[in-house]
Amino acid sequence: MIRIDILTVVPELLDSPFGYSMIRRAKDSGVAELVVHNIRDYATDRHRRVDDYAFGGDAGMVMMIEPVFRIVGELKSRRDYDEVIYTSPDGERFRQKEANRLSTLGNLMILCGHYKGVDHRIREHLITKEISIGDYVLTGGELAAAVICDAVIRLLPGAMNDESSALTDSFQDDLLAPPVYTRPAEFNGWKVPEILLQGNAAAIEQWKFDRSVERTQRLRPDLTA
Ligand code: ADE
Repeated sequence: MIRIDILTVVPELLDSPFGYSMIRRAKDSGVAELVVHNIRDYATDRHRRVDDYAFGGDAGMVMMIEPVFRIVGELKSRRDYDEVIYTSPDGERFRQKEANRLSTLGNLMILCGHYKGVDHRIREHLITKEISIGDYVLTGGELAAAVICDAVIRLLPGAMNDESSALTDSFQDDLLAPPVYTRPAEFNGWKVPEILLQGNAAAIEQWKFDRSVERTQRLRPDLTA
């Protein structure tokens, strides 16, 4: 079972992503343990401060070292962590391969950046991996953490209804997935490709592969480069 500890100053942001659907089922059935921690609970002053002004006069607040240091230390004293991840737009771009790798690990910690980010000493001394979910800036790292958790947990045995379906996802072999259809076979004059209705398994596999290649070359040529 994988355990993921998420450290955030806005735990409420994760209620909905973790409260429904696949992630909820994975938690309920013991496939994954997700524990959300409020960094504010580890603040050291009586106002429970977790952010302060940036040195150097820049606008915007910075997440303070002490509360993060305390919670990371407490968690590390209880178990070993394979990765301590920080979500940030300047991290390594998150890809399927990294989701696959993380899904094979045991204990993960994800620190969600907020405000202008965390005091850089946290990144230098406590973080083992920095991940960006794309080249755009979010208000905080919580949604990025939810994206990472979803991509990882759905790969775990027992997380999805159809065990084989994660293997046929887009990106698993650097190809986009082929188009899919369901009943009715004709709607409004729009027809499902004939080959899918004819029951020739080999021909259907070939068709799917050809569509995958064609879609990848047209939509994401960078994947084959
Ligand atoms: N925090 C803010 N923007 C982010 C991004 N693109 N990826 C990960 N964390 C973020």
